[in-house]
Amino acid sequence: MPAVEPAAVSWFKGYLTPDEQRALTARCLEFLNGPAGGYVPTVRGGGRMRVRMVCLGRHWNALTYRYEATRADHDGAPVPPVPEEFVRLASRIAQDAGFDVAPDVCLINEYGPGGRMGLHQDKDEGRASIEAGLPVVSISLGATARFLFGGLKRRDPVEAMLLESGDAFVFGGPARLRYHGVSRIVAGTAPPALGIDGRINLTFRRY
Ligand code: SIN
Ligand code: MN
Repeated sequence: MPAVEPAAVSWFKGYLTPDEQRALTARCLEFLNGPAGGYVPTVRGGGRMRVRMVCLGRHWNALTYRYEATRADHDGAPVPPVPEEFVRLASRIAQDAGFDVAPDVCLINEYGPGGRMGLHQDKDEGRASIEAGLPVVSISLGATARFLFGGLKRRDPVEAMLLESGDAFVFGGPARLRYHGVSRIVAGTAPPALGIDGRINLTFRRY
């Protein structure tokens, strides 16, 4: 059981050490650049996302907004499992935020210099997961992102936060469906030791 009361929103600045960031970045690059690697999804309506994405555990289909076992909206490739060490790390972060959960889905998003993500809710997971407020656990690597965090309605005011390499951000409970997005990537801010110019973000969820 978590030793702390669940907090709807937790921002752990510098959660990962530089060595942990380097190792995790290398693992993400293996997925992004390997076979069935990252691709730029086209969403319903025909727009192209401004990130390169690869999903582990379950694939998030950008055309249907459903999770599935293969990349039906892209190349039909099967989805690799979430590595054990990823699950351990995300569970530990969730635990530090007061949630007892083992995530089973990981989306890796790679943002180049012009990368961004429009304001949205994460609401495609299973109903039981969302109703229980099981959290989204996010880890940032590389360049700083201007992350927008709003309310439960699209028009609610948004707060801008600078998520830096090594930060972990968790939102669950009553905050689980808060709108969020990335308005821009701050050029030149990636720690040189990571060997990337852009940003990699991992988000974990329990389907
Ligand atoms: C997401 O909302 O799926 C990604 C958020 C981020 O890149 O920080
Ligand atoms: Mn999201």
